[in-house]
Amino acid sequence: MSFDLVFFGGTGDLTWRKLMPALFQAFRHGKLPEGGRILAVARDEQTDEKYRDWLRERFKEVEGDKRPSDEEFQRFAAMVFYRRMDLSQPEHYTRLKEWLGERQADTVVLYLATSPHLFTQICEQLGAAGLNHSRVRVVLEKPLGHDLASAQQINRVVRSVFEEQQAFRIDHYLGKPSVQNLMALRFGNAFFEPLWRRESIANIQITLAESLGVGTRGPFYDGTGALRDMIQNHALQLLTILAMEPPASNDADAIRDEKLKVLRALKPFTADSVVRDVVRGQYRAGSVGGQSVPGYLQEAKVPADSRCETFVALRTEIQNWRWAGVPFYLRTGKRLAARDAQIVINFRQVPHAIFPGAQRANRLIIKLQPEDGLELELLAAKGGAPGEALAPVSLDLDFDKAFSGAARVGAYERLLLDAIAGKLNLFVRSDEQEQAWRWVGPILDAWAASEEPPRPYTAGSWGPAASSAMVARDGFTWPEEV
Ligand code: BG6
Repeated sequence: MSFDLVFFGGTGDLTWRKLMPALFQAFRHGKLPEGGRILAVARDEQTDEKYRDWLRERFKEVEGDKRPSDEEFQRFAAMVFYRRMDLSQPEHYTRLKEWLGERQADTVVLYLATSPHLFTQICEQLGAAGLNHSRVRVVLEKPLGHDLASAQQINRVVRSVFEEQQAFRIDHYLGKPSVQNLMALRFGNAFFEPLWRRESIANIQITLAESLGVGTRGPFYDGTGALRDMIQNHALQLLTILAMEPPASNDADAIRDEKLKVLRALKPFTADSVVRDVVRGQYRAGSVGGQSVPGYLQEAKVPADSRCETFVALRTEIQNWRWAGVPFYLRTGKRLAARDAQIVINFRQVPHAIFPGAQRANRLIIKLQPEDGLELELLAAKGGAPGEALAPVSLDLDFDKAFSGAARVGAYERLLLDAIAGKLNLFVRSDEQEQAWRWVGPILDAWAASEEPPRPYTAGSWGPAASSAMVARDGFTWPEEV
């Protein structure tokens, strides 16, 4: 199968940090279909050779064994081309069409790795140039809009140019092997499903913690904040996969229909419940991994009076038969104590205790990163003194070890290969995405109307104390406090 893959924003951060290295991995693993061409387009005037040289330099920053050898780079770079394009100029799209038309590739993937404010303009121009025919797929990077209205506006334009099945909206979390494993855990195994409901589960906690700060992304981040950057997309996508009903098949729409139902069943926020059930924070100077780090307001190009949140913790419920009354806690933040993405399923206590001592409830910990694994916490008798309390023990599974030898495919590698192959399962449909914006809307509105600044937290901590207090109100604790 021949393909042409075009990166708009071909000299941008995303292209050289994530997309090109991911394609290189696909190439190295022999997964990239033969006969493909990769075209980077951007505003600078340069030749294919100069672009390849630039890319070779950038690749030196790729970590350890993911870095290509000279020989590998040469072979990969032979597929890479560059063209100058001014995205406001219709004739530049005509030229692109001619370049693509030189040969009729089976698939043309147009990846918009530009600033999202250019998405509508690019789509309209692609449509006008006839670059929306049935062999074309368009890939849209997040953030898609900054609220419901702007997301709807982008989707309206995308829909006026492309069919829904041509639109691949990226949420890179869906490409992570650990997240695909969630589907496998729930729907490839019989024993969790009967327990996966309010009768057995006391609460569910999703943590997406980062130890890094905003780095050089200050200007972007300050206009975005943690709610839009992580909760509206990554955290909600995890929640939908965790909570959805079993889909009838593994088809993209069968899955996406079920995910949408979860989003529609999320308890809507009101101005009052935002005050009670949402904590927003901003990091102050502190220390992470033994190193002193500045506060958010001291980061480069962040306004000194910014009220942008770098931390969010919230409590929600899913209003349906399976989940009624079960709290779902979501939290994310920058400059937290550790890089740690995990989901904790806290099961209910045994209904009647016959062993001495306070008995811990069972927990299933789904580890997403840095390790990819599963841990099931059980209670067992140590076999010591009579009357001794039960001891917690864990069944601990590390997927990297379990599947050692198998090349595990990274998130962007998987998503790029799926886009080339036309598989939509791991991409977000417009109605899911809009529903997610609809749900976060009242939080954004309440914050905009509030005089209260975000709560400060020290870099290297687990966020503001109010986050623990919110969970404690229901009689629970976050995993690090257990
Ligand atoms: C991105 C956010 O979508 O996800 C970043 O814009 C964040 O702010 C990143 O750092 C986290 O992704 P990962 O894969 O490192 O957990």
